[in-house]
Amino acid sequence: MKTFYVTGEKAKSQIILGEHFYNFKKYLPDDHFVIITDEVVNLYYGSHFTNFKTIIIGCGEKIKTLQTVEYIYQQLLDLGVDRSWFLVGIGGGIVCDITGFVASTYLRGIKFGFVATTLLAQVDAAIGGKNGVNFLGYKNMIGTFTQPEFILCDTSVLNTLPKDEISNGYAEIIKHALIKDAGLFNYLESNRETILQNDPQTIQHLVSTSITIKTEIVNLDEKEHGIRRLLNFGHTFGHAIEKVTGISHGKTVAIGSVIAIELSCKRNLIGRNDADRIKALIAGFGLPVELPESNKKEIIDALLMDKKRENNTIHFILLKSIGKAFVQELSVEEIQLNY
Ligand SMILES: NC(=O)c1ccc[n+]([C@@H]2O[C@H](COP(=O)([O-])OP(=O)(O)OC[C@H]3O[C@@H](n4cnc5c(N)ncnc54)[C@H](O)[C@@H]3O)[C@@H](O)[C@H]2O)c1
Ligand SMILES: [Zn+2]
Repeated sequence: MKTFYVTGEKAKSQIILGEHFYNFKKYLPDDHFVIITDEVVNLYYGSHFTNFKTIIIGCGEKIKTLQTVEYIYQQLLDLGVDRSWFLVGIGGGIVCDITGFVASTYLRGIKFGFVATTLLAQVDAAIGGKNGVNFLGYKNMIGTFTQPEFILCDTSVLNTLPKDEISNGYAEIIKHALIKDAGLFNYLESNRETILQNDPQTIQHLVSTSITIKTEIVNLDEKEHGIRRLLNFGHTFGHAIEKVTGISHGKTVAIGSVIAIELSCKRNLIGRNDADRIKALIAGFGLPVELPESNKKEIIDALLMDKKRENNTIHFILLKSIGKAFVQELSVEEIQLNY
């Protein structure tokens, strides 16, 4: 078992890798807690929490809304939950983002923790205290920065995760390698076959390395004023593609990453060889690398309305080399000209 920490302004978060997910009760203060999970996770793992108060929500990005948040508030009221209670989100990034937001706002904030059940949640979404929901189709428009008390990552639950969902997790692992860790990039290249066979030790290594990278960044910049912005690599385009096409988060991050790499190459920051190497790695992990041609105009329009746009520029994360990223402001014209 390995433990990592995120020290936020208001609370400390403990990330435990290698703990059995069904031991989550060990990390709770008492019996006053409610589980929030989704229909699919409940089907697979609900037998481990039948005796506890549980709120089950639907699946998919479409339910990451204020309506779902209101539904949960109502259930919490009906259960008589007060400020001394604890919420536990058991699921992927969507359950974690919603649970974190509900817990941070219900009665001005109650304590919460996560059992992360997707690869994407274990390596990224559950960690760092960002939570929130979509609003009017815009990704993560409404949310807070609040650290969970704990995050349990048990890689054995990934055995039931569909292959397609596993590859969504690879997109964020590759992102971590590209922005911060050339060694991880080499590891992904050299061990691709073993990783794709879900070799437990290799997956454990990837989750552990990703948690290290994410916690280090969040510990330096919890509220995203500086270095934490690097974690948005691939996400500016990614969010626009997600909004227009409904393609899953990990896959749109993969396409967004390739776009950021091409922009880095055009500006002579990275060479063609490295750009091709990165694209080959992303494709090699079963992820898309092309912007969907049929929706191109809509995607650019959505991008130009992105919430991170300031004046006539958009914050983009580009690469200097594999493992080194930086923030670059790009003009709307430059983006329009290239796409
Ligand atoms: N807060 C952050 O810092 C942050 C970072 C990255 C991504 N995100 C968010 O995370 C979300 C994506 O998360 P995700 O990819 O985990 O998707 P998800 O939560 O939708 O999970 C994917 C699917 O897998 C199912 N599932 C979950 N665990 C399972 C298991 N062990 N076995 C079988 N099926 C299982 C779920 O029911 C769901 O249908 C996006 O909304 C994204 O914006 C947030
Ligand atoms: Zn992401």
